[in-house]
Amino acid sequence: MNAVRDYVASFAGETGYLNWAAFGPLSPAVRASLGDASDALASFSTADHGRAHLRSAAAVASLAHLLGSRSDEVVLRPSSTDALQHALYGLTGTVIAAAADFPSITLPLQRAADQSDGRLSPRWIDPIGGWVTPDAVSDALTESVTAVAVSHVDYRTGYRADLGALRELIGGNRMLIVDAVQSFGVVDEDWSVADVVVGHGYKWLRAGRGTGFARFSDTARERIGPVLSGITGVAADGPFRGDVPPPADGARAYTTSVPDHLASARLAAALEELQRVGVAAVEARVRSNVEVLIDVAARHGIRIETPVDPRRRAGIVSLVPHDAEALGRVLADAGLVVTVRGGAVRLAAHAGTSAETLELFERALAAYGRSSFTAS
Ligand SMILES: Cc1ncc(COP(=O)(O)O)c(C=O)c1O
Repeated sequence: MNAVRDYVASFAGETGYLNWAAFGPLSPAVRASLGDASDALASFSTADHGRAHLRSAAAVASLAHLLGSRSDEVVLRPSSTDALQHALYGLTGTVIAAAADFPSITLPLQRAADQSDGRLSPRWIDPIGGWVTPDAVSDALTESVTAVAVSHVDYRTGYRADLGALRELIGGNRMLIVDAVQSFGVVDEDWSVADVVVGHGYKWLRAGRGTGFARFSDTARERIGPVLSGITGVAADGPFRGDVPPPADGARAYTTSVPDHLASARLAAALEELQRVGVAAVEARVRSNVEVLIDVAARHGIRIETPVDPRRRAGIVSLVPHDAEALGRVLADAGLVVTVRGGAVRLAAHAGTSAETLELFERALAAYGRSSFTAS
């Protein structure tokens, strides 16, 4: 219980902040980790550099634990887009993805297809409401499909894909590639159903940028060519002469260079903090905060495009009022930080979102009256 209390207390100062789906301000533990990491790297002693290196290993170990995988399946990358590039450039066959998914899936998939001489092609789907349901994927599933690439939680609508059902649908012979940016750390998921899981630390983990990561299962390693690998991704220690060595066994093949140990120190601190409280406890608090947001918005007659079923959402609530820009201004005037984009207002609550923040939201809507947000 104290772990939950301490975790929530670490959000002090968040009042009004409902923008966790865009950026998570650094947690105090993450900030504290920077001193030691930068001291180690500012040193002229290689022993101290080794100390910095250990934080990368610690981040990998924590990620493996949280992802339910082995450490040699996990790699640290500068961003989740980078990790998806490694996954998508090495694929062949037909890959199902939603055309409206975050560009870190759609862009590399299209670019990789463009370079593939016909060996890779996207099959874009445009499901109702943007929700990548098993039915939507099923309609596009043919023999040639080798993989499905999907955001676990959609950055626009907040829809949480049913990974277990998608795995069951596509069977064991196709790959499931999951962008977990909007769920890792706040959804207690069985990640083992996916072959590739990518994420980063700068939103829900509060670890700052440069903290991308990925897990590539053994199956993924067998089927995804390590097209973009660099010096850390080969079966050789350091620089080599003559023939270029083969790719490394395991996920290391999808790396290009030594990770940024300062970023790793932040990520490691954030993951250790998360493990102390437990993802299930974080998820429970996120869910109850999101329920309040949905309830308040619904009472004011605002259309919500996020699923009502708590199993199909996480921390994002997408509101589609009559005039999103106007609602955005109302919320900003009330001291709330949200994202207004494409005719929707995106709210994102974390475990440490306070009752005060939720009340600010309620009061802001109440002050404007129901008719302001609904079509007349
Ligand atoms: C679902 C999703 N994937 C990927 C990204 C981008 O991640 P990165 O900056 O690590 O490439 C975002 C950023 O908002 C996102 O929402």
